[in-house]
Amino acid sequence: MKKRIVSTLLCTAMAASLFAGCGSTASTSTSASGSSSSASSAAKEESTSSASSEAADESAETEATSDTASAGGQTIGISMPTKSLERWNRDGSYLQDQFEKAGYKVELTYSDNKSAQQNNDIEGLIADKVDLLVVAAIDGEALSQVLNEAKDAGIPVIAYDRLIMNTDAISYYVSFDNYTVGKLQGEFVAKQLDLDNAGDKTYNIEFTAGDPADNNATFFFNGAMDVLKPYIDKGTLKVPSGQTEFDQVATAQWDTSTAMKRFQNILGSYYSDGTQLDAAVCSNDSTALGVTQAIESDYAGNNNVIITGQDGDEANLANIVDGKQTMTVYKAVANEAVVTLDLAEAMLNGEKPDDSLISKSGWDFDCSYDTSSYDNGTGVIPSYLLVPTVVTKDNMDKELVDPGYYTKDDKGYLHPVG
Ligand code: BGC
Repeated sequence: MKKRIVSTLLCTAMAASLFAGCGSTASTSTSASGSSSSASSAAKEESTSSASSEAADESAETEATSDTASAGGQTIGISMPTKSLERWNRDGSYLQDQFEKAGYKVELTYSDNKSAQQNNDIEGLIADKVDLLVVAAIDGEALSQVLNEAKDAGIPVIAYDRLIMNTDAISYYVSFDNYTVGKLQGEFVAKQLDLDNAGDKTYNIEFTAGDPADNNATFFFNGAMDVLKPYIDKGTLKVPSGQTEFDQVATAQWDTSTAMKRFQNILGSYYSDGTQLDAAVCSNDSTALGVTQAIESDYAGNNNVIITGQDGDEANLANIVDGKQTMTVYKAVANEAVVTLDLAEAMLNGEKPDDSLISKSGWDFDCSYDTSSYDNGTGVIPSYLLVPTVVTKDNMDKELVDPGYYTKDDKGYLHPVG
């Protein structure tokens, strides 16, 4: 099992003629490379399709696939938020691929970022009598009732990437260390501006955070703010808009154009007199994209604004190559899918997984078992947390291309695999 995702990805990243070579090493990677290849092209197609066709796809979509039955014909219901935010296409593909390779049937739904639709989709999965649910919530506060129905039906639930609040139907949470994502962004800015040695020099900074309905969003924001607030308090960092509270800087649905419009307003109101903007902390890549667009269209200065992000979305990586965005925090969602599969298998086998899942699994990536950070209002949900990585122009080959997560074209741009 160790390294299976990386070998899968490397196979996919290579020419088709190499599939047979990769696959011949083990039966697991044989089938994994084949289907990862199709998942990869599907995800690529999806990420380039128009928003409207995505919405149409999402309202209709429930895919039941795979007739391999080594997992006793058990079915996993996977509920993803939307295809319109790039990463969830990758998550859906990786999860589907992992579970199918392990012999499960998979029903995968996308809910067009509409909470009511996600409720309906999950009800459909419950009605289809899936054996386990993996749910990335659109609104973490809006699923208690439907998940209590899952509990009543004896269907265990894993909260995937985003914690689901106010229900004890959740057995486990699989995510990245979300606070550290924000902390890495804050530390990056502090280092780039050399804030510890700023003396009397001051810098201007603005913040853009994520969706208030997403429990992760405050973790990201707090992680960055905890690093940067001491410099704000000292006066080294100034926030000309005065917007330093999460509620002031949040972006509904992580939407690119919402982030762009807000930032255009900020630039128009506080920077049009020639005030220099030094850094824009953006919690993720979809918001960073909007902020970058606003800076391109509405910022009068010509300095390089430091812009942070998260996810390694294709357009943002292109912006990093072109010098328009400075960094992104990459989370290997392929590995998040591996953890989810191994956890689900243990749960379905009647085990009560704990930190020993990590040592037993032989994963070739870091993951911690956390029993204190994520309280969903009914108690702490035991969590498996993977480790995020800072990616810049300088290390993107090493962090993204060499492990097989992305391919690089002859112009130097990166394209996600899977
Ligand atoms: C995820 C981020 C993502 C954001 C918007 C968050 O819950 O953790 O990776 O950028 O949602 O899709």
